[in-house]
Amino acid sequence: MTALPFLQVDDASRRFAGLVAVDSVSFDLERGEILSIIGPNGAGKTTLFNLITGQLKPSSGAISFRGERIDRVPPHKRARLGLGRTFQIAKPMAALTTRENVMVGAFLRHRGFADAFNKAGAVLGEVGLAGRADHPAGELTLSERRRLEVARALALEPELILLDEVMAGLNASEVTQVIDLIFSLNARGITFLLIEHNLKVVRAFSRRVIVLDHGAKIAEGSAEDVLRDPQVISAYLGKRPQ
Ligand SMILES: Nc1ncnc2c1ncn2[C@@H]1O[C@H](COP(=O)(O)OP(=O)(O)OP(=O)(O)O)[C@@H](O)[C@H]1O
Ligand SMILES: [Mg+2]
Repeated sequence: MTALPFLQVDDASRRFAGLVAVDSVSFDLERGEILSIIGPNGAGKTTLFNLITGQLKPSSGAISFRGERIDRVPPHKRARLGLGRTFQIAKPMAALTTRENVMVGAFLRHRGFADAFNKAGAVLGEVGLAGRADHPAGELTLSERRRLEVARALALEPELILLDEVMAGLNASEVTQVIDLIFSLNARGITFLLIEHNLKVVRAFSRRVIVLDHGAKIAEGSAEDVLRDPQVISAYLGKRPQ
């Protein structure tokens, strides 16, 4: 028997009434990879993330992580297994400080207040927010809120992080900083699955890209290959291939 991949999505579908938001999607992810998911608005990217991290159950299909079936496991147990994520619409607890927001996640693996406090401090240092630790999260800029989302995921000490459009709305130099952050976290062993619209980012993580359209996987390959695939180009132009 061969070992299961680190993450395996096997023929996963999710229906909402008459709509098939995720349509028989399969892919594998190996430990240490950075895999990008692209596709037009409404393609099913966030829904696919929700199936992986447990906010939604698949209508059919299987998802396994580190050799275990997880598609019926509640989200907090998936976090314990090593899955972290960011949300497309970042919703920090505005009245809490930046550090307190991160501590909420740090309590997953640190029972004591001092340990969680220190863990949150270390994580905020890693994402470049140490100087904002004691500010209310509601006062952070957009780019800082994105970093806070990453910090909240990191506080869970995950092995795999799912980033949902974490670069959206950032300027070019902020995007470069987040790309560098992802590479440095990846170098210390964290695997990444990211949803991205910014093609500069997709090209930076060029080795493997999956393209979704109308819920289905329509292409998979290097950034260079998928971005010149006629089916991918017509999906982005809103035209169906002939
Ligand atoms: N909870 C839900 N109930 C009903 N329909 C939903 C639900 N969540 C998503 N959908 C629909 O499923 C489809 C896929 O949505 P999803 O948010 O996964 O797309 P996306 O690829 O992340 O898009 P975007 O690039 O705009 O973030 C859309 O048609 C959306 O309206
Ligand atoms: Mg989305």
